[in-house]
Amino acid sequence: MAKITAGVGSSHVPAIGAALDNGKTQEPYWQRVFSGFEKSKEWMKEFKPDVAIIVFNDHATSFSVDMIPTFALGCAAEYPIADEGWGARPVPVVKGHAKLAAHIAQSVIEDEFDLTIVNKMEVDHGLTVPMSLMFGEKKPTEEWPCPVIPLAVNVVMFPPPTGNRCYNLGKAIRKAVESYPEDLNVVIFGTGGLSHQISGPRAGLINSKWDKAFLDNLSKNPKKLTAIKHLDYMREAGAEGIEMVMWLIMRGALDEKVDEVYRFYTVPASNTAVGHIILENQKKAKKTSAKKISAKSAKPAAKRAAAATKADVKKSKVRK
Ligand SMILES: [Fe+2]
Repeated sequence: MAKITAGVGSSHVPAIGAALDNGKTQEPYWQRVFSGFEKSKEWMKEFKPDVAIIVFNDHATSFSVDMIPTFALGCAAEYPIADEGWGARPVPVVKGHAKLAAHIAQSVIEDEFDLTIVNKMEVDHGLTVPMSLMFGEKKPTEEWPCPVIPLAVNVVMFPPPTGNRCYNLGKAIRKAVESYPEDLNVVIFGTGGLSHQISGPRAGLINSKWDKAFLDNLSKNPKKLTAIKHLDYMREAGAEGIEMVMWLIMRGALDEKVDEVYRFYTVPASNTAVGHIILENQKKAKKTSAKKISAKSAKPAAKRAAAATKADVKKSKVRK
């Protein structure tokens, strides 16, 4: 059985991609941002997902004001990197997992979430920047470590979906994944945010207090977040802060209780607050709570489970 065992929340600021691609990661301004993802890359290397479902938004790249689906699931074999006006990012083509994506579409649509099926799509910074941050820098001739199922959400043109709808879609995706017969360790990303506004009189707005409360509740009390209205996101987190609803799809796909294994927050990157969190489902048999990733000994849930199983096997052998 496939299972979503962990969730990643990450900003997808385009300037982060530009800093990576133009060799600026060691500049003090950017070093502050990238240092926050060093442990995340280590975590990801240990977690070794078989598939990543990445919830993102298209920034008028594959869709436009002519047509914006509310939820669009990528069911293609691969997704070329989009040219957003300054050439395509020099990263590998994103390979899909068409079989699992088709299975998710079938299950989720039967659960009355009417997704748009996408069989051809170029992907922009919304998808590739979090991949670079979590999987590390890759040349176009290399491969990403796992296939990706993109889920594009409309947070560009009003009305976007509600946070509650997003949270419940996450639950439906979880159910879909768990009914897939192959054993797959799946990670889900929620991307975008945190507080930011890129135009108008409030351009540059950042609300750290709001962002931190959002992260706290995302970890411990996500239900509370599902009640936040669009206007509250806009008022408190800026017009583009509405991207944060995408994190609720990720959170809905996880268990009610999760271990927060890592968090990072810094201001600013470009004109945006950068937020990042890693959440793991708790293991039923685990007696002690997970240590924070900063405690170095923390390992991804899948690894801990494998280690626990090995230990159990050893014990049972000893008993015999
Ligand atoms: Fe965005």
